[in-house]
Amino acid sequence: MKITVVGTGYVGLVTGTCLAETGNEIVCVDNNAEKVQKMRNGIVPIYEPHLDVLFDRNIEANRLTFTTDLKAGLDHGEVIFLALPTPEDEDGSADLSYVLGVAKEIGDYITDYKVIVDKSTVPVGTAEKVRATIAKTAKAEFDVVSNPEFLREGFAVDDFLKPERIVIGTKSKKAAEIMQRLYKPYVRSGNPILVMDEKSAELTKYAANSFLATKITFMNEVANYCELVGADVDHVRIGMGTDSRIGKRFLFPGIGYGGSCFPKDVKALHKSGKDANFSFKILEAVVDINEQQKTKLFPKMEGYFKDDLKGKTIAVWGLAFKPETDDIREAPALYMIDLLLEAGAKVKAFDPEAMENVKRKYGDKVTFCENMYQATEGANALLICTEWSIFRTPDFTKLKKQLSEPVIFDGRNLYTTEELKELDFHYLSIGRKSV
Ligand code: UDX
Repeated sequence: MKITVVGTGYVGLVTGTCLAETGNEIVCVDNNAEKVQKMRNGIVPIYEPHLDVLFDRNIEANRLTFTTDLKAGLDHGEVIFLALPTPEDEDGSADLSYVLGVAKEIGDYITDYKVIVDKSTVPVGTAEKVRATIAKTAKAEFDVVSNPEFLREGFAVDDFLKPERIVIGTKSKKAAEIMQRLYKPYVRSGNPILVMDEKSAELTKYAANSFLATKITFMNEVANYCELVGADVDHVRIGMGTDSRIGKRFLFPGIGYGGSCFPKDVKALHKSGKDANFSFKILEAVVDINEQQKTKLFPKMEGYFKDDLKGKTIAVWGLAFKPETDDIREAPALYMIDLLLEAGAKVKAFDPEAMENVKRKYGDKVTFCENMYQATEGANALLICTEWSIFRTPDFTKLKKQLSEPVIFDGRNLYTTEELKELDFHYLSIGRKSV
């Protein structure tokens, strides 16, 4: 099939590349000429495991091309994916100006039947707005489909190639058939392609992400309560998660969720509710709790250093909002670093992928290290913010020699309290006894 993807951010790039993988001819459109040139030269502008291999292979096969020319892009595809940013507005709602801006141009340019697919995460009612915007000037027939993505950063290629479900929201039988044909090779395992009305499809994405954020937040609250009453959240988590109605996944407490989706989507769903005179009270609590959770370890650090962090050197392991990504959007590590710097502490940081992004924010206010042990060398304490695998089994003997005080603040519960007690470390984590 001939397909156009407008917007080569994270979602657009993964979508375009993975759709090319099954033999479709993809044109990706982006208005950033420098980025387009880089992609033409085979440079993947984001870090996402396995994407580079697919990217090279499909460029080589001429199934994946890039342009800044929207009109040419629109001429090419029978299906046009809109993978445009929907940033958070000041009031928490999703800013639709990019999506509707391109919709206007689609109306101006299309000359034959097109399926316009909203891939961006958009509030209920956006498909209707996109349709109305295109219809103002369109001289050809078109259908609008809501097709939310459920890609996790770090696993996006696998999630796209082997999705647990595909959601297609449209009232057009013709568009539904085209979309089913397009996705058929990806659901060979028997996972469903769910066709529904467009509003339900739009809401599915927000509801799924908000539910997951709520699940994590509930567990963070349980963890905070565990600390108060002397229970161990690890036992509670397993005790709960083995009930198949609850499930083991997404029950890991920590210093809060971050990233480009959960924070934005929870706030956007809350705001959409408000606009419809509906109060999503649970989401209000989720936002508040998560905000506090991100800096949860700071008072513990202050307590340990008797409110005197000035001049102390803190090694920070992990800056990305989660492992396997270089994304630092809403990353708890940055909230902790801000507080540490404000308190006069020095920060030595290490992350396997995200350092360049963090350098842009802090410059020389933070010392960026080449490896995890360079960060801990001579530091007063270690703070762990992201659960990269490399941090899971450190050389504790070396760490003890390097740190001027054997203390670890762990925002991701990477070690057991028993093992660290045995090794004679002070160990402060989330929802468990400090030793
Ligand atoms: C999420 C959704 O999973 C994906 O379906 C959607 O399309 C985009 O948003 P992503 O933001 O890449 O994907 O990250 P995810 O792996 O879901 O983790 C989100 C956040 O929750 C991270 O900050 C992570 O550290 C945190 N988390 C996750 C926990 O704190 N505890 C858990 O048990 C799981």
